[in-house]
Amino acid sequence: MTIDWDALQAAAHDATKHAYVPYSGYPVGAAAIADDGRLVSGCNIENAGYGVTLCAECSLVSQLFMTGGGTIRAFVCVNGDGDVIMPCGRCRQLLFEHSSDDTELLTVSGIRTMDEVLPDGFGPRSLEEYRRGTSG
Ligand code: THU
Repeated sequence: MTIDWDALQAAAHDATKHAYVPYSGYPVGAAAIADDGRLVSGCNIENAGYGVTLCAECSLVSQLFMTGGGTIRAFVCVNGDGDVIMPCGRCRQLLFEHSSDDTELLTVSGIRTMDEVLPDGFGPRSLEEYRRGTSG
């Protein structure tokens, strides 16, 4: 699958227009192509209980599932100026869960694999290996 990264970044920038950011004033938009070619996106939705804030990646993953599930083939997130930003640590974990070996992310240092963005991530495989007695 060929990824149109400019179009994906533009979709992420469009998503920032929906952000609810009364506390930080920092809109974030995220966009991804699912493994079946579907485009999904999300924006950050803040909360007066600051820690309850939903990052843009949260609403993106919700949309991924609400429109059929699958895994993320390509991902980017941007700020309100449309500039590429890095997913926060929590969201790297969130993305890891729904990634595959083919997942690519457009980052501040170019296109990266999920393993480069979250090296040796803890995920479903870790739990499965423990259950099977093959971890460690
Ligand atoms: N934010 C995201 O939406 N995603 C990230 O990966 C980084 C941070 C949001 C959370 C908060 O609403 C704002 O950016 C400032 O931290």
